[in-house]
Amino acid sequence: MQLFSPITIKNMTLKNRIVMSPMCMYSCLDESGKVNSWHKTHYASRAVGQVGLIIIEATAVTPQGRISVHDLGIWSDEHVEGLRELVQLVHEQDAKIGIQLAHAGRKSADHGEIIAPSALRFNDSYKMPRAMTAEQIRETIEAFRQGARRAAEAGFDVIEIHAAHGYLINQFLSPLTNHREDEYGGSLEGRFRFLREVIEAVQEVWQGPLFVRVSANEYADGGLTIEDHVTIARMLQELGVDLIDVSSGGLVPAPIDAYPGYQVPLAERIKQETGMLTGAVGLITAPEQAEEILSNGRADLVFLGRELLRDPYWPRRAAAQLGIKIAPPVPYERGW
Ligand code: FNR
Repeated sequence: MQLFSPITIKNMTLKNRIVMSPMCMYSCLDESGKVNSWHKTHYASRAVGQVGLIIIEATAVTPQGRISVHDLGIWSDEHVEGLRELVQLVHEQDAKIGIQLAHAGRKSADHGEIIAPSALRFNDSYKMPRAMTAEQIRETIEAFRQGARRAAEAGFDVIEIHAAHGYLINQFLSPLTNHREDEYGGSLEGRFRFLREVIEAVQEVWQGPLFVRVSANEYADGGLTIEDHVTIARMLQELGVDLIDVSSGGLVPAPIDAYPGYQVPLAERIKQETGMLTGAVGLITAPEQAEEILSNGRADLVFLGRELLRDPYWPRRAAAQLGIKIAPPVPYERGW
């Protein structure tokens, strides 16, 4: 049985393989990007529920790069205090906590100008982005570095870089959204350059476990495929990235045929071809299903999204269902 077996990644040991997938909660009441008591209750509940690693929602490295104006932010030193409190609450419950650093690019909801690798809009309901200047590329990479530095100051255990779902980094990676003619476009190496420079900037201030979330299928003609993503995974491996969190879709408005475990084969392929640690995500809801993915060596961690919104105590239910004994929820065994 693997679901409740520990795993060590760099300096961090997780007590089990259950990860709360990053999910935007659009719950900053104002536009400050600051943690409030709702976030503390929400994430600490999943820690009480025995999730091994909680990755908090896409957190914006610039205000301009928010998915919604109610997103969490890490673009200023003023964000550190609230994030630190959140980290402490989760640590008190013996869980680890990561942060997903994000920039939405052409999918930003900012009131002002929005930016992307090329001036191509997502669809009619989104604004037309401005193609980033070399200066804006430098500033945005610097914003990821500062975000990582603040994440370290807040005490997070993991940083995950959001390179999936059609947000800024994914827009650089894909030939469908990157029509640049400078060194940040063209070949796969060129389109990968922005992500590489983001990772290198993050690594200057962050020595802990580093995850990258990708969309390993864009479900669009001419878009990136799993074959491209095996190559990208090798490039990430060379840079010292510890784990690839394998999602899909979101780059262009294409329909997705989602069924239980639909993205697991993508994680499996990357793991088999590169030997990298992978996380599987997407309609993983049943304990036996999660166990199958891990025990058959298809992924190293299972990320649960909506099922953990429905049931913060999912790990307890899973342990009971699989007949595995974990720490009881009350200090006296006789009360349980
Ligand atoms: C998401 N998802 C998501 N992914 C991500 O990388 N960063 C994010 O901030 C969000 N935000 C988000 C909000 C909400 C409300 C949902 C439902 C989803 C995607 C999520 O992490 C996960 O990959 C998918 O939901 C698929 O997994 P499940 O929900 O089928 O387990």
